[in-house]
Amino acid sequence: MAGFPDVMDKLVSLCKRRGFIFQSSEIYGGTGSVWDYGPLGVELKKNIKDRWWHAMVRSRDDIEGLDAAILMHPRTWEASGHVAGFVDPLVDCKTCKGRFRADKLEDAKCPQKPSKQPGQHDACALTEARQFNLMFKTHMGALEESASVVYLRPETAQGIFVNFLNVQQSMRQKVPFGIAQIGKAFRNEITPGNFIFRTREFEQMEMQFFVEPGTDMAWFEQWKAARMQWHLDLGLSRDRLEFHQHSAGELAHYARAAFDVQFDFGGTLGFQEIEGVHNRGDFDLTQHQQFSSKKLEYFDQVNNKRYVPYVIETSVGADRVTLAALVNAYREEAVEGETEGRVVLGLNPAIAPIKAAVFPLTKKDGQPEMAERIVADLRGAFTVDYDETGSIGKRYRRQDEVGTPFCITVDGQSTGDQTVTVRDRDSLAQDRVDVSQLKGYLAAKLVG
Ligand code: GAP
Repeated sequence: MAGFPDVMDKLVSLCKRRGFIFQSSEIYGGTGSVWDYGPLGVELKKNIKDRWWHAMVRSRDDIEGLDAAILMHPRTWEASGHVAGFVDPLVDCKTCKGRFRADKLEDAKCPQKPSKQPGQHDACALTEARQFNLMFKTHMGALEESASVVYLRPETAQGIFVNFLNVQQSMRQKVPFGIAQIGKAFRNEITPGNFIFRTREFEQMEMQFFVEPGTDMAWFEQWKAARMQWHLDLGLSRDRLEFHQHSAGELAHYARAAFDVQFDFGGTLGFQEIEGVHNRGDFDLTQHQQFSSKKLEYFDQVNNKRYVPYVIETSVGADRVTLAALVNAYREEAVEGETEGRVVLGLNPAIAPIKAAVFPLTKKDGQPEMAERIVADLRGAFTVDYDETGSIGKRYRRQDEVGTPFCITVDGQSTGDQTVTVRDRDSLAQDRVDVSQLKGYLAAKLVG
C-alpha cells in the first residue's frame, strides 16, 4: 500500500511564500538548521502552545505552570547526566570536511557526486568515531575561563526538577501533582534537517508528574492515553499516529519505561517521534539531591512518611507538532469547473492562524466600508484579514492556502439587508448570515 506522499518541499516553499517560516538570517546565507516563524507561523505555533497550556495547566488543579531560565547552574547538567552522556558518535571526512553521525551513516549523503553514503567514494577519508557532546557551551560573566562555563539547556525538564520543592511548597500541592513549562531548548545536532523537524534551537512543552513510587505505572498508562488523545484533538489523523515502545536497548539512561507518540510525515521520513512519554522513576530528583546536597523529598502528612517521588514525563516539541499539523493539513484538490486546482491547509479551525477573511465583492457601493466595519468588529475576538484585491476566486485560494476556515463576503445584497455570505473552507458551502449574528456564528464553529 502506498504511504502518505512527501509534501515537505512544497510545504517549505508555501511556508516561506505565505509568511509562516523563514530560514534564519537568510540574507547572510542562512544559519544551519535554525528557522524564524513569520506572522502566520507564529500564530499557528502559539495556538498550539496555548492549547497545550490550557490542557495541561489551566484546565487542571493538579498541574502548576513554570517558566524557568535557560541558563542553569552547570552542576545541573552533571547531575542530569548530560555532561557525561549527552553525546553522539561523530566522524569527520578529511576530504570533503563533512561531519556525520557514525551510527547513522546509511542515512547520510557524501557531498561528492554521484550521491553515495559517506565512506563509499575512493576519496573519502573518514576519521575514527569520537564522542561529541550536543550541549552548546557559553561563558557567564566577563571572563572566558573554564570556571565560567554554562550551557544552553538541552531540555526544559531540569528547570522543573530543581524547582520541585519550590513549586510544591509555595502552591501547597500534594503528590500526585505536576509541573509544566514551555520553553526553548538547544542541541548542537550533528545531522539536523527535514525543515523544522530536527533543529538546533527549538521549543519544548514538558510536564513532569510527581507520583508515589508504586503508583507510577498506572500514571504512566494514564498519561500515555491522555497525550495521544491531545494529538487527535489537535486534528492529527488517527491513521498517521502510533505508539512506539522503547526496547531495553533504546531506553534513555533515566527511563524505566518509554513510549514515543509517532506521526507519519509521509515519503521516506515516515513515522517519527513527536512526543516522548517516560517513566523517569526517582532518577532526576535523587541525582539533584546528591549533587546539590539538598533534600528533595516529599512529606506525606496523611501517612506520615517521606519519600522521593517518581516522575512521569510528557515531552513534546512545539516545532515538531507544528510541522506535523502542517503536513497533516496540506492537500491539493481539483475544483469543479476550474482548470487550476486549489491548495488547502485543512487545519483544525481552532489552530488556524487567520480565523476569517472579509472581502467586499466590489470596490464600490459602500461594500469596502461595510467589510471594514465587520473586520473592526470581529478583530479582538478573532484574527481576521481584509482583502479587496483580485478576483473573488483568487482571494478564496489565497485564504485556502493558509488554512483560513471562513471567508466572509460583502455583496450587492449585504448593504441592503445587513447579511453576508460565509464560505466554509472544506465543504465550500456558503451560509447567508446576519451581520449581527456573525460573532456567535464563528465562535460556535471555532470550538474544538
Ligand atoms: N526531557 C526529555 C526529552 O527532552 P527528547 O525525546 O530528547 O526527550 C522530547 O525530546 C521532544 O522534543 C521530542 O519528541 C521532539 O518533539 C522534541 N525535540 C527533541 N530534539 C529536537 C530537535 N533537535 N529539534 C526539534 N525538536 C526536538
